[in-house]
Amino acid sequence: EQPPRPTTFDFHGVCMTEIVTGNWDNVQDFKARPDDVLIVTYPKAGTTWVSYILDLLYFGTVDPDRQTSIPINKRVPFLEMAKRTLPTGTETLNQLTTTPRLIKSHLPVQFVPKSFWEQRCKIVYVARNAKDCAVSYFHFGRMNKSQPDPGDWNSYLEKYMEGQVIYGSWFEHVINWWDKKQTCSNIHYMSYEDLSQDLGREVDRLCAFLGLSPSAEEKENLKAAVKFDSMKENKMVNYSTVPSMDQKVSPFLRKGKVADWKNHFTVAQNEKFDEVYKQKMKNCTLKICSEI
Ligand code: PPS
Repeated sequence: EQPPRPTTFDFHGVCMTEIVTGNWDNVQDFKARPDDVLIVTYPKAGTTWVSYILDLLYFGTVDPDRQTSIPINKRVPFLEMAKRTLPTGTETLNQLTTTPRLIKSHLPVQFVPKSFWEQRCKIVYVARNAKDCAVSYFHFGRMNKSQPDPGDWNSYLEKYMEGQVIYGSWFEHVINWWDKKQTCSNIHYMSYEDLSQDLGREVDRLCAFLGLSPSAEEKENLKAAVKFDSMKENKMVNYSTVPSMDQKVSPFLRKGKVADWKNHFTVAQNEKFDEVYKQKMKNCTLKICSEI
């Protein structure tokens, strides 16, 4: 028998679910180390892609076995994960002996544990076009039983525009992280679209930010490994090891394209979305993608 899909609720003003909030005190008290690297995104913005890039940059040469034997979600643990059937994110992280620890999170900026700021940890934030995130998140909800049931596309899109999906509003997430970045030099703010457009340039920028200098050969190997088709075939990064996901419904590495939203949005949905977008983003200088 299938366990029921989780429900969502308001949590300090953000739509959340027990899988995120169930270990809250331990998350808030988490002791970051100065060399921890935190990778933060709104869901479906390219977390796995950037996690894999960072994992290869730090460990690709020094520990090649790591790439073939440990799934990416164990190499880059999910900070706020509170599943009862699995060790929580904080338990996994507290037991990690490799350094630096690479840590995944989708937390809105106001919920980041204070030790990350106190320790001045490096933070990589990845933003992705709001419409593409919506489409990707919808399909993720269909295939992943630990997500709420997304319902049909139209009603899902309504909920998404209202911020009634886990982690709340895309707008608030990207805007509040963008604002934080203006005063915080240890945040590298990048986009999925830039990564798609020029992987080499974005890897160079990441290396400059992280203080890494891989050889030309390492960079070439990395670029080949993190291509969408390579990752899709790679069991250690394609999430095929996670039982709650039914990849026959929709693969985790689904399309990997910029502007796939054009295949999902009706003209009316697009017009409405653009209205909401204009309104919510009117005071924000961030431009993620010219398609919007
Ligand atoms: S999660 O569940 O929030 O951690 O998901 P996340 O990894 O952030 O996002 C998944 C989407 O990223 C796409 N992806 C890629 N696109 C291009 N190239 C590469 N290498 C790549 N790796 C992951 C993945 O396909 C999901 O997007 P969609 O649009 O659904 O295909």
